[in-house]
Amino acid sequence: MIKINNLSKKIRRKRILNNINAELKGITGILGPNGAGKTTLMKIIASVEKGDGDTEIIYKKKNDNEVKIGFLPQNFHIYPNLTVMNVLKLLSTLQEMYDEAHLERLLNQLALTEYRNEKMKNLSGGTLQRVGIAQALLNKPDYLIIDEPTTGLDINECIKLRTTLLSISREVDIIISSHIPEDITSICNHLIVIEQGGKIFEGGLKEIIEKSNGLTYETVVHQSEISELNRIGSILKVGQLSDNKLKVRIVTKTPLLDGSFKEVKPDFLSGYVSLLKGEK
Ligand SMILES: Nc1ncnc2c1ncn2[C@@H]1O[C@H](COP(=O)(O)OP(=O)(O)O)[C@@H](O)[C@H]1O
Ligand SMILES: [Mg+2]
Repeated sequence: MIKINNLSKKIRRKRILNNINAELKGITGILGPNGAGKTTLMKIIASVEKGDGDTEIIYKKKNDNEVKIGFLPQNFHIYPNLTVMNVLKLLSTLQEMYDEAHLERLLNQLALTEYRNEKMKNLSGGTLQRVGIAQALLNKPDYLIIDEPTTGLDINECIKLRTTLLSISREVDIIISSHIPEDITSICNHLIVIEQGGKIFEGGLKEIIEKSNGLTYETVVHQSEISELNRIGSILKVGQLSDNKLKVRIVTKTPLLDGSFKEVKPDFLSGYVSLLKGEK
């Protein structure tokens, strides 16, 4: 478990993160819109950057050995002309932990065996991210910190990455950030939501769903009425019906009372959106 106390960060007088207190345990997801401060937070947790003043980060461990952290930054592009195997050999040699058997195991675990002689510049986005995870696991870390790994990946690559992370989560605690709810719901059991540099939620997935209890509705409207709906709530999903009619799923505190709104079961997305909009 990692405990964060009073984490704040200003960059050039601009407040980026504001007094965050949190516990990262199991597979923790850090979810928030673009610009919320996820990358800055991940760098501080990974000790790549320092927090301001009173910031305290406590890395709890089962034994007394030094805590080791593996980090995959958001923009991982290195050594375009080297092969996957040579990059991993180079990085492990630089860290003085070259271990042939461990390298082979990582290639296997991350489905990279067939790409070992491929140059980095020729890899697809998903494969590149798996190499990024392999390099983060070279030092056999206690914590694996991965910043927005699914950005720019197609749906199959996303699913493959999530499955890979689930399988390695048996060996290492994972902290993953994303702006995509599915990344979090598919693998995390603990969730932190940040918005504009502040923590607005910490807890389990169920608790976030409950945030939109009694606020989630479905209704059918004509296409011309959609902008009006936008004014009364946050639209989650739109489906085309025939005759220019749309089936709309919406989170709102002020549903129309003319019988056209049907309350439906909330889900993660409705909970997350109502949390962001403050419709609690
Ligand atoms: N080095 C920096 N200098 C100035 N502003 C920064 C710097 N790094 C991040 N920011 C600002 O801090 C905010 C949070 O950025 P970031 O941590 O990258 O958010 P996220 O990863 O959630 O998109 C953004 O408004 C961004 O413009
Ligand atoms: Mg980011």
